[in-house]
Amino acid sequence: MIDLWSIPLEASRTGLAAARALLDADERSASRRFEKRSLANAFVLRRAARRAILARYLNVLPERIAFQENRHGRPQTDGLRFSASHSGAMACLAVTRGDVVGADIERIRPVDTLLFEQRILSPDERQMLQEQPEPDRLNRLLTLWTAKEAILKAMGTGLCLEMLPRITVPPETGCWRQATAPGGAWQVRSTVDGDYVTSLAAPAPDAVTHRDATALLHGHGVG
Ligand SMILES: CC(C)(COP(=O)(O)OP(=O)(O)OC[C@H]1O[C@@H](n2cnc3c(N)ncnc32)[C@H](O)[C@@H]1OP(=O)(O)O)[C@@H](O)C(=O)NCCC(=O)NCCS
Repeated sequence: MIDLWSIPLEASRTGLAAARALLDADERSASRRFEKRSLANAFVLRRAARRAILARYLNVLPERIAFQENRHGRPQTDGLRFSASHSGAMACLAVTRGDVVGADIERIRPVDTLLFEQRILSPDERQMLQEQPEPDRLNRLLTLWTAKEAILKAMGTGLCLEMLPRITVPPETGCWRQATAPGGAWQVRSTVDGDYVTSLAAPAPDAVTHRDATALLHGHGVG
């Protein structure tokens, strides 16, 4: 089972202070390295949400969770698998006690479609996309982009530009579908909700529960 949490990245001043109090010293110091205050605040909120959500599963205080990183920077903690992503004013966190999982979210916004298509897609995917009517093209492109990033996150490599066109993903949304990547097959599942598209990647199809983190965060004074 995979829980997919939606995390709104907005909070009052007191909510932000409560969020900061959940972070460790490294996270607090990382938040000070952002030049733009809005980006620093979003970082504080998503890291606090990550702690608050994972604490629920681990039955510990959020501030007590210790994270390690693999050699590509993938964060991990004992006892759970998770994958985080953010875009615009939203973040998501996929959590499971099962096998590895990857998650990626993108706000649906105009992008340089041609450039993205060249960098991300396989020749077959490019052909498929060019046959789509214009209104569908952007959604489908972002669906493929998030699915591919979710696979790279599940693999633990993170963004690896030269890998993207070597992954092939069927463009449908709403159900698990099989993608192929160097090294093997993955299952991906994409959903479009309002202005955002979110994709999950896992080794096998799994039940997904969508959860909203707002009430949980309010319980920690964040909001
Ligand atoms: C993972 C990565 C793609 C982030 O992508 P992004 O679209 O900018 O940001 P997202 O919000 O979607 O994801 C960020 C989250 O991914 C997670 N993450 C970071 N590195 C990761 C990795 N290697 N694998 C899986 N997840 C990773 C973190 O939880 C991070 O959250 P944070 O910003 O709060 O630290 C990016 O950090 C990356 O590619 N790092 C480099 C990895 C690398 O050097 N790989 C070399 C292989 S060729």
